[in-house]
Amino acid sequence: MSTYKEVKKVTTHTLIEMKMRGEKISMLTAYDYSMAKIFDAAKIDVLLVGDSASNVMHGHETTLPITLDQMISHASSVIKAISRALVVVDLPFGSYQGNSKEALVSSIRIMKEAEAHAVKLEGGEEVVDSVKRILTAGIPVMGHLGLTPQSIYKFGTYEVRAKEGAEAAKLLYDARLLEEAGCFAIVLEKIPSSLASEVARMVKIPIIGIGAGPDVDGQVLVSHDMLGINKDFSPKFLRRYLNLYDEIKQAVERYVADVKSVDFPNKKEQY
Ligand code: KIV
Repeated sequence: MSTYKEVKKVTTHTLIEMKMRGEKISMLTAYDYSMAKIFDAAKIDVLLVGDSASNVMHGHETTLPITLDQMISHASSVIKAISRALVVVDLPFGSYQGNSKEALVSSIRIMKEAEAHAVKLEGGEEVVDSVKRILTAGIPVMGHLGLTPQSIYKFGTYEVRAKEGAEAAKLLYDARLLEEAGCFAIVLEKIPSSLASEVARMVKIPIIGIGAGPDVDGQVLVSHDMLGINKDFSPKFLRRYLNLYDEIKQAVERYVADVKSVDFPNKKEQY
């Protein structure tokens, strides 16, 4: 008899079933092997290799500079760590906006080189053709509406989006288009809770919110923010579960002091 225990993997279909039975979906960003291994062991449903890696891993001010090669490198290390979670990878700025063929080629690279499970892209009507083209290759696509950080220079601010009539109406229209095009889920970022709730009721696919209130089908946070590795980003929607910046800093200060005082290594810590 085998002792191998089958791990039930999360798929895009699992997420739709979760929405149907009212079970909330948990999602976090991950960019490397070691963190992804911990998150997967904690039974996170979805790991997003977000282009927020541009900020938190590469130190850029926006998500625009990160390249497709860099995203593939992060994604392939995350994929090696997981045994249960669904891994979605952001198409970075400049890798899909040109035309639908470019979007397909970039998505195929992500699926082939990183062995990811799905891709995510930002936008509504503007990217619908690309969504359809990516799907022709059997690659699942997650949408992203509301605050779309790749368009920061168009918005000029990271403030709440779709507060007004026309922008809210466009968001509803885009969500419906993405569902009809075949997206398996949509992220809604930083929009009023009432609008997010309306979208979640309107479409059958799961709606994952970040700063979009509780009446959606799941929540996503940037892991560096919720773990407190980042101290200088404190939007109202963020809940910090740890204060790792201070904890790591204190540990390193103790290590430096121990090295300087020759307290480390002691008799037991040598050969
Ligand atoms: O890149 C990212 O981390 C994201 C989340 C904010 C949803 O897209």
